[in-house]
Amino acid sequence: MLMFRSFRTLSREILGLNRRNQDLLARYNPRALFQVVDHKLKAKEALTALGLPVAETLGVYRFHRDITRFIAETRNWQEFVIKPAQGAGGEGVVIVTGRQEAAFVTSGGRCLQARDLESHLSDILGGVFSLNHRYDEAFVERHLRAHPALARLSFQGLPDIRVIVFRGVPLMAMLRLATVASKGRANLHVGGIGVGINLTSGMTTYAVAGKRWLTLHPDTEIPLAGLRIPHWEEILAIAARCADAVPLGYLGIDLTLDAASGPCVLELNARPGLSVQLANRRGLRPLIAAIEHCTPQQFSVSERVRLGQEIANAS
Ligand SMILES: Nc1ncnc2c1ncn2[C@@H]1O[C@H](COP(=O)(O)OP(=O)(O)O)[C@@H](O)[C@H]1O
Ligand SMILES: [Mg+2]
Repeated sequence: MLMFRSFRTLSREILGLNRRNQDLLARYNPRALFQVVDHKLKAKEALTALGLPVAETLGVYRFHRDITRFIAETRNWQEFVIKPAQGAGGEGVVIVTGRQEAAFVTSGGRCLQARDLESHLSDILGGVFSLNHRYDEAFVERHLRAHPALARLSFQGLPDIRVIVFRGVPLMAMLRLATVASKGRANLHVGGIGVGINLTSGMTTYAVAGKRWLTLHPDTEIPLAGLRIPHWEEILAIAARCADAVPLGYLGIDLTLDAASGPCVLELNARPGLSVQLANRRGLRPLIAAIEHCTPQQFSVSERVRLGQEIANAS
């Protein structure tokens, strides 16, 4: 594999926003399925039906009257995460990591009272954090903890792994890490770091934050390249199977590695961003073109993973 691609080669191979929208989303992603991936509870249901690992849902709140049972239910949970079902970009996600007497301590170190959490749930139901801004559902899920191999790289927060899957074949992947600037979130547009991953070896390659290349994590000063992601083959197989659960041709799968249970799908994305190409210093176009010439739907999961790795190695 080429270590460095020239700038000209790279700019020819990079998939831009227009092409993504016209050539991929319009052709391969049926609109009707967007409402499944854009709703985290529906997406989890589709994934669980195929036996794919997701964070366990502890409670669901659909109507305002449901909020009255929330505080009683929290007695069973030491740590938990509250999410809007149709949220995006980390908005409205509250991570509770412990208790201090009657108060709840969040991952950011804030202390919230029961009535604060109830009014947060009420905001979620009112659609404050949601894509449609009209109404939403809130849910609580198990608090995941990062596998030690990933936890040491991130500044707080739960690192996640984005895998781009085209027609069921994993083609490109990156690790996303939180920074002080991103306030514990791994989302790149709020200041997180993207680190490319070699699809065959599962080793990290190049790192990027915004438009800057990095070799060290700015806060932890740990080198970002050359780390082997544990359970790599399993992660790719799970990502490939997500495209069987929700048959979208072009899909971004976000997974994490939980310290206790291993790989776990966090969410699916029907319009994945394009910065994964920067983190890998290569474009998606030749990889996508290679898949357009075959019929991967006839292949088994492990054949699809092998195919993605071969294409990534060859071009
Ligand atoms: N169950 C969980 N346990 C711990 N942290 C979580 C959990 N779920 C999400 N997070 C953290 O919150 C961030 C946002 O959650 P996510 O489900 O990806 O929603 P969004 O669509 O808003 O990005 C994740 O990137 C991760 O850092
Ligand atoms: Mg996310």
